[in-house]
Amino acid sequence: MARSRTPQLEKYYARRAAEYERIYDKPERQAELAWLRERIPRLLSRRRVFETACGTGYWTREIARKAGFVTATDINEPVLDVARAKRLPASRVRFLRADAYVPGAAGRGADGAFAGFWWSHLALPDLERWLGVMSRHLAKGARLVALDNRFVAGSSTPISRRDAAGNTYQVRKLLSGETHEILKNFPTHAELAHAMRPHAREAWVEETPHYWLLVADLT
Ligand SMILES: C[S@@+](CC[C@H](N)C(=O)[O-])C[C@H]1O[C@@H](n2cnc3c(N)ncnc32)[C@H](O)[C@@H]1O
Repeated sequence: MARSRTPQLEKYYARRAAEYERIYDKPERQAELAWLRERIPRLLSRRRVFETACGTGYWTREIARKAGFVTATDINEPVLDVARAKRLPASRVRFLRADAYVPGAAGRGADGAFAGFWWSHLALPDLERWLGVMSRHLAKGARLVALDNRFVAGSSTPISRRDAAGNTYQVRKLLSGETHEILKNFPTHAELAHAMRPHAREAWVEETPHYWLLVADLT
């Protein structure tokens, strides 16, 4: 596999694998997460789904309840190990190692796609590149669903700095005490719509207090 485009991001999530799902325990987010666990599978119902950056498979498990089949991919073996330990039925799900920018044959021609908390980690040129990869990788007319965070003071990790291109960063601390500076953007509706315009015939955003959900039917 070619060298990662975002080695710091990759390393951070490899180190965080065992503690990753603690993020889904935040009490103030439980009602929204319950709604998303119903909403996202319905949006991808009966489709052959390609999932990018699936991490520990938290959303894979939900999507697999309604999808025809899910090919879930991530660049990091430590998170895929956690996902595989969920023992989801092989008739509905497979987990594969793949780089989001070079998915190869994994899930090619799928008519559904999901990416959870991936978009926010991409600088604009990487976002454009990834959307181009997805457009070419998926079937014509496929539905892409992306879920990510809204910034909520007091609940979100504070923003540590903003670079010249407008990307924002957070300093994340793991249970071991080690810290990682991670690019984390909080796009506006207009920015989401602008990014999808070259690729989608229809796109909309659904929001809860802590999350945004982009649904795009590709051209
Ligand atoms: C915020 S986590 C999201 C995990 C999962 N989608 C979820 O919503 O729970 C971001 C994931 O991106 C993965 N990742 C980082 N760089 C990647 C790349 N180049 N290709 C594929 N996955 C990558 C990390 O390993 C990590 O699992």
